[in-house]
Amino acid sequence: MFETLKKATLDKIFVLMAEYAADPREGKIDLGVGVYKDDKGITPIMTSVKKAEQKMLESAKTKVYKGVVGNKEFSAAIVDLALGGVVEASRIRCVNGAGGTGALSILMNVISRARPGGRIFISDPSWPNHWPMAELVGLKPHYYPYFDAKTRKVDFPAMLAVLDTLTADDTVLLHGCCHNPTGANLTPAQWDDVAASLQKTGAFPLVDLAYLGFGDGLEADAYGVRKIVSSVPESMVAFSASKNFGLYRERAGVAIGIAKDGASADVVSSQMQNVIRATISQTPDHGAEIVRIILEDKDLRAEWEAELNEMRGRMQRLRVKLAEAIRQKSNSKDFDFIAEHSGMFSLLGLPEDVVSKLKLDDAVYMINDSRINVAGIPEDRIGELADKMLAAIR
Ligand code: LMR
Repeated sequence: MFETLKKATLDKIFVLMAEYAADPREGKIDLGVGVYKDDKGITPIMTSVKKAEQKMLESAKTKVYKGVVGNKEFSAAIVDLALGGVVEASRIRCVNGAGGTGALSILMNVISRARPGGRIFISDPSWPNHWPMAELVGLKPHYYPYFDAKTRKVDFPAMLAVLDTLTADDTVLLHGCCHNPTGANLTPAQWDDVAASLQKTGAFPLVDLAYLGFGDGLEADAYGVRKIVSSVPESMVAFSASKNFGLYRERAGVAIGIAKDGASADVVSSQMQNVIRATISQTPDHGAEIVRIILEDKDLRAEWEAELNEMRGRMQRLRVKLAEAIRQKSNSKDFDFIAEHSGMFSLLGLPEDVVSKLKLDDAVYMINDSRINVAGIPEDRIGELADKMLAAIR
């Protein structure tokens, strides 16, 4: 049977991660996979997470199934955090996802049941997993323009022009904040325009919210998603706790369906549960329970927010320092955009041969489209990194 199979293409992010791990060179620099790193280059377990985990271990009495919707209190806490009460609770239904990707997969499956073979519009460029995920459930992915490679900003007029042509049968996948891979984000006024466009066309919004709190703060980063879900009768949101709680391997996420009324929301919930049962039956609870404990405990929540602020501040500082170093060394403002982008990533706009030269000659790893994870910039070697980048470009 297996002779009928061809070797599948693996996601470039995880291929690069394996290449980096196998590279024996001292001083290699990892700007690849999107995981937060501290000043020692380590992806730490947050202190608030450790404390919540300890509490959980001490009080847990059973590992019995929770039910197909998963940890309801975790979902409710995430809905509060992300949506801040802008939609009436009676219109919202949630299930846990196995991470943000798991949540997205449940939602895409439900969309595909509602619109078999329907079109889903994805930003150009986008996280490399969006396109294959859409194809896997039978949706037809298309791009909408997003990034202007010259200005390194969002090409908003081009984006809006395409969104305005969509129909009520189409789905639009939006990055709620901290756009991956570009780092270029919509302003509040642009979010308002996107919401107005969706109201006009009736296209269905699916918001991927994987980096809440990594851009400009928890409230500011929630502007876009709150604007969208409060402007249209039906929408969906995939929330990930992988980055902002540092729970990557625990796979904690929430799939949120928002319907026009409670009866319709119940149908959406039944569909989401049906997808879970037929795929993984029950979602993991370890990370979900940790997040629930943190968000329901005043002190732990304050500690988590402080840790999150520190992470965001560090990434912002690294952006400014790298942009400054390149400006000083090259006497040009060509890379100033790194300090203007926000979130975990910036798309540098380097050709693939330069990216490959940096990897082979200098052991500097970034995704082949020249996306960098700014948290991977080694703060004590920024001058050296700037030199290497400039030498590779010349
Ligand atoms: C990334 O974009 O690097 C992260 O979201 C990790 C992943 O799952 O791709």
